[in-house]
Amino acid sequence: MSPQLASVLPSLAALRGHDLLSSADLSREQTFALLQLAAELKSGERCIDLRGKTLGLIFTKASTRTRVSFTVAMARLGGQTVDLNPSVTQVGRGEPVADTARVLSRYMDALAIRTFAQDELAEYAHWATIPVINALTDLEHPCQALADLLTVQEAFGVSDGQGGLTLAYVGDGNNVAHSLLLTGALLGVNVRIGCPSGFEPDPALVERARALAGERSAIVVTHDPVAAVRGAQALYTDVWASMGQEGEQAQREAAFQGFCLDEALLAEADARAIVLHCLPAHRGEEISAGVIEGSASRVFDQAENRLHVQQALLAVLLGGL
Ligand code: CP
Ligand code: NVA
Repeated sequence: MSPQLASVLPSLAALRGHDLLSSADLSREQTFALLQLAAELKSGERCIDLRGKTLGLIFTKASTRTRVSFTVAMARLGGQTVDLNPSVTQVGRGEPVADTARVLSRYMDALAIRTFAQDELAEYAHWATIPVINALTDLEHPCQALADLLTVQEAFGVSDGQGGLTLAYVGDGNNVAHSLLLTGALLGVNVRIGCPSGFEPDPALVERARALAGERSAIVVTHDPVAAVRGAQALYTDVWASMGQEGEQAQREAAFQGFCLDEALLAEADARAIVLHCLPAHRGEEISAGVIEGSASRVFDQAENRLHVQQALLAVLLGGL
């Protein structure tokens, strides 16, 4: 174990039994420590044993990365996963969340939930007596942001404000943008969101990010994509129409013209800039094929890092440290 990790382990131990519903549920110290633990799990410096523990997956929306990385994370730690797809459980037939959460708490050690409303996630957490993890809601995607910032750290080292790294997100002010704002703020990274008018991140989340960043870093929302990316070390984008917004695809494609992360925008960034995308990506819409396949792209390292940060998270929430 690294000396840095040893010194912050008590802050991680305090998370045992807790939920992760929002990126802001972690303190600054816990966010740094989780990424440090994830890096040590990735390098093989550290092993965790979760034998006998079971994670339930309740996914109301499609998923490749989150579903598979949670399943493989539990397997690597010696635990198991049960897929509680709502279409084959009573969840899909309307059994109340209050009953489902209490029953599953008698069988499982944690639940990872992907759904639409943050309130539904919070209701699971209210009734469950085991940790509940946000595996994406319409409001946030905290596990994604942890993997994203680990990828930024791998490229540039650990930022701690005072003129440190800048991450520029170009596109819809959505769930992914919200968690990037919060986790970036906690880690002292400057976060700039470049979005069309009408597609800004939730103002309450922006204010929360500013409060978390304090004097350490700047949180900026702009309607100018070039201003957003200028000089930035990490460029990020996500789909223009998220799951549940498919009916708005055509209207959004029109509104987001000029916000494609293409070669021209990349040329405005720091010469060392890396390109991130949570995936799945729509080439030719929010990102050009050349940029996602180009030398700056780190999207597959980023996808891999979901596995490492989720192993760290499961270890911490399930008391495996
Ligand atoms: N990035 C991400 O969450 O991917 P999935 O929707 O495939 O889980
Ligand atoms: N914003 C996207 C992220 C997918 C991982 C969505 O919610 O569909």
